[in-house]
Amino acid sequence: MILKNEFLEVEISEYGASIVSIMVPDKDGKKVDVVLGYDSLDKYKRQTKYIGATVGRCCGRIKDGKIKIKDKIYKLSQNEGKNHLHGGNIGFDKKFWQARKIDDSVEMFYKSADGEENYPGNLNVKVTYSLDGESVVINYSAITDKETICNLTNHSYFNLNGYGDVLNQKVQIFSNNFIENDSDLLPTGEIKSVTNTVMDFRRPKTIGKDINSDFYQVKLANGFDNNWIIKNYNGEIHRAARAFSDETGIELEVYTDLPGVQFYSGNFLDGAENGKNDMPIKNHSGFCLECQYLPYAVDYKNFTKPILKPGKLYNKTIIYKFKTK
Ligand code: BGC
Repeated sequence: MILKNEFLEVEISEYGASIVSIMVPDKDGKKVDVVLGYDSLDKYKRQTKYIGATVGRCCGRIKDGKIKIKDKIYKLSQNEGKNHLHGGNIGFDKKFWQARKIDDSVEMFYKSADGEENYPGNLNVKVTYSLDGESVVINYSAITDKETICNLTNHSYFNLNGYGDVLNQKVQIFSNNFIENDSDLLPTGEIKSVTNTVMDFRRPKTIGKDINSDFYQVKLANGFDNNWIIKNYNGEIHRAARAFSDETGIELEVYTDLPGVQFYSGNFLDGAENGKNDMPIKNHSGFCLECQYLPYAVDYKNFTKPILKPGKLYNKTIIYKFKTK
């Protein structure tokens, strides 16, 4: 399904409620596809990197797949070693969503049954993609009939040149603190200051500058793969991060009403299959800025928990805004 206006052209797929492409004009007016993706459904079915997908019911890693809700322990499916990652074995990224196009929007619906991947509660989810001038606006809403966890994000890998690697592209994250990971890349719950570390993206920095640093967090992930806590978070929509390419002049701004952003520099992309236009999808071919509740929040009392109760509406927004200079 295509959404198009005078500036952007976006392709959305029912499979995984995914973004397949975002075409943005570069500084010479040439259209650049700024996200990684595939040109066949079979490749989407085979891929294991969540490229472009809606990730849920809970994005990020959960130790041993164990969560506690209302004093009851649930053992979610363990799809990454002993841990749970991005919704389990067959997460929202591997489901066909029902779609309907309304004017400038696409609405996608999925009913996640009670017990799916061992999550409690029937969860009715709607993802709406719409265009607003130079912005792709993604709204997530969900309701449940039993208390559950819900933390949905979009897993687009951006490459603002449309080819090659992203090492010369600059990223800025509006955050003073990141969450420490352990060697399984599970958050330890420790909030660390970015000051005097290579995790400081308060000023724009090329992704490649410190990607091979011997800072312990970068070493564990072979690059960047942490959650940054957005500065001055108050539940309103605010700017979380920014990225740009001097080569194409394309700039991306990410806005959200969620408290954290996972900056992941595509360290595990392995070149398994080429993407659209035969582009290799390998180490650092794209980067993600995944807005979300802080990962693994169910276990740490200092993180707002993405708990959804019956009668409450989950309603969160992520905006990708593009400019060309
Ligand atoms: C995580 C990475 C993970 C990737 C899956 C990202 O959200 O932070 O650690 O490998 O998703 O492709």
